[in-house]
Amino acid sequence: MGRNKTEWFATWFDTKYYHILYQNRDFKEAERFITNLLNHLKLPKDSNCLDLACGKGRHAVFINKKGYSVTGVDLSENSIQEAKPFEREDLKFEVHDMREVFKTNAYDAVFNLFTSFGYFENQGDNLKVLESINEMLVDDGVLVIDFMNAEFVLDNLVKEETKTLDGIQFHITRNYDGSHIFKHITFSDDGENFSFQERVQALKKEDFEMLLDKAGFTVVESFGDFSLSPFDKHKSDRLIIIARKK
Ligand SMILES: C[S@@+](CC[C@H](N)C(=O)[O-])C[C@H]1O[C@@H](n2cnc3c(N)ncnc32)[C@H](O)[C@@H]1O
Repeated sequence: MGRNKTEWFATWFDTKYYHILYQNRDFKEAERFITNLLNHLKLPKDSNCLDLACGKGRHAVFINKKGYSVTGVDLSENSIQEAKPFEREDLKFEVHDMREVFKTNAYDAVFNLFTSFGYFENQGDNLKVLESINEMLVDDGVLVIDFMNAEFVLDNLVKEETKTLDGIQFHITRNYDGSHIFKHITFSDDGENFSFQERVQALKKEDFEMLLDKAGFTVVESFGDFSLSPFDKHKSDRLIIIARKK
C-alpha cells in the first residue's frame, strides 16, 4: 500500500499545526483516561499492549507506567520522532499504517484512541483496520476504541469558530455531507497561508457493532466519557467501545 502523502490524514497530522491546535488534548487528559480504563480492564500483569495511531505517545507512556509492555505506532513520522525519547526496554514507537498488520498474534490489548478511525476514502479500509487488529490480538484479546459520539457531535455541530493558539489564528468551519464530518482549518503563519481539512466518517455505535462483528469481535461494553460513565447517544461526548476477539 505504501504511504500516500496526498491522503489528508498523512499530511495534516504530520504538521506542527495539528499539535498546536489540539494542545489541550494533552498528557494530563491521557493519564486520567488511561488510569480509569486500566482499573476497569484489569489486564494481566505481563500484558503486551499496542497503541494504534499513538500520535506523540501520550497514552502509550501511561499504559507503560502502569506496568505493561507497550508499542505505539502511527503513520506520522514527526509524531513518532517526538515519541521516541520516551522509549525504554518495554516501551517502543514505530511508524506504521494501521491498515496493515504490525505483528501477528502478539498483543493482549489494542488501544485506538481519540478518534483515530474512519479517515479513509475507501470504505473497505475501515474493515481492514479492524481485521488487522483482530490478527494482531491473541485469542480473547481486548480492543478499546475511543471515538467521537457522532450523534452528539452532529446535534451540536459548531459551524464556525476562530481560535488563537501560540499566536496563530485558526479559522475553523465544519459541515456534514450525510456520511462524513468535515473540518476545514485555515490560518496564516510567518506570512504563509495554510489550509487543511479533516474528514471523519460519522460512525455511530451500531456502525461499529456491525463492523466489529464482521471483523471477528464481540462488543462487550460501551462508555460515554473518559470517566467511563454509561454511553448515552444524546448526551455523551465520547463513544468508548470495549470489544473482544471472538
Ligand atoms: C486524532 S489523532 C490521535 C493521536 C493519539 N491517539 C492521541 O490521542 O494523541 C489521530 C492519529 O492517527 C494517525 N493516523 C492517521 N492515519 C493513520 C494510519 N493510516 N495509520 C496509522 N496512524 C494513522 C495520525 O497520524 C494521528 O496521530
